[in-house]
Amino acid sequence: MGLRTSELHPGLAAEAAWMDLSAPMPDDAIAAISAALDQYPVLVFRNQRLTDMQLRDFAGRFGPLEIGRSALRPGRRRLAIPQIGDISNLDEDNRVRALDDRRRLDSLGNRLWHTDASYMPIPVVLGLLHAVTLPPPSPFGNGETEFADMRAAYDALPDVTKAALEDLVIEHDVFWSRAQIGFTEFPPGEREQFPPSPQRLVRRMPATGRKTLYLSAHASHVIGWPKADGRLLLWDLTAHATQQRFVYSHTWRVGDVVIWDNRCTLHRGRPHDEQQPRDLRRATTLDTASTLEQAA
Ligand code: OGA
Ligand code: MN
Repeated sequence: MGLRTSELHPGLAAEAAWMDLSAPMPDDAIAAISAALDQYPVLVFRNQRLTDMQLRDFAGRFGPLEIGRSALRPGRRRLAIPQIGDISNLDEDNRVRALDDRRRLDSLGNRLWHTDASYMPIPVVLGLLHAVTLPPPSPFGNGETEFADMRAAYDALPDVTKAALEDLVIEHDVFWSRAQIGFTEFPPGEREQFPPSPQRLVRRMPATGRKTLYLSAHASHVIGWPKADGRLLLWDLTAHATQQRFVYSHTWRVGDVVIWDNRCTLHRGRPHDEQQPRDLRRATTLDTASTLEQAA
């Protein structure tokens, strides 16, 4: 069974024909979605209404699910299921968080181009984000999510550059991505809980053999190089890789489910009216091995 898709951005994003993601799905439907993701690493499903449990169950068909950094924190949480990430500006009582709220400030790291959890020794594969409540338009943006194609960005590099990048290993550190936006106030113990991880810069997608750049706001420096040289290289590569021609901007509608492959895309949230609720729920599948064990 193939999945019917219509292209939203060449080779990067497509909208899938409607299917009910809340219902139990046959294995061949899951296989068809996986195959479509090998071609289009950003897939949009419209008009879904999933409970958190249904989102968890659907996502779980693609692999074991991550429990994210914020769900691991002690204390009350807005959402009951730890495998469902709270991508919202709401507190435990569903109130919009104040501008100086620490969790809000921490989550603003999502506005930088990144791939999820690249600071973990074994990072993640698919992100599945479901839009529940969306803010109205604002002068600074409408809360879109942008995705950039790291396979196309890799392909567009000169051959000599590709060769020079081939074996580089990057240190990824969640505290570096937050430091870039001036946020340093982490709960006690969190720095020890999430030490930096080394990741290959050039990875190969297992299903297609295509090479991809594994960049992220968490990417701090090149291991074995002076920090400044590595940081400058990563800034240059990220600027190259996020040019308009590599980017699909997703304008959310309530009920959307967007699935993306974190191995070969970067994404970032765009600004929105901070006085208005924006509530998305995310499930994320785990990879099986470190990028250091995956050949470029
Ligand atoms: C995420 C993320 C951006 C957004 O859910 O991983 O980075 O637009 N989201 O909310
Ligand atoms: Mn993210």
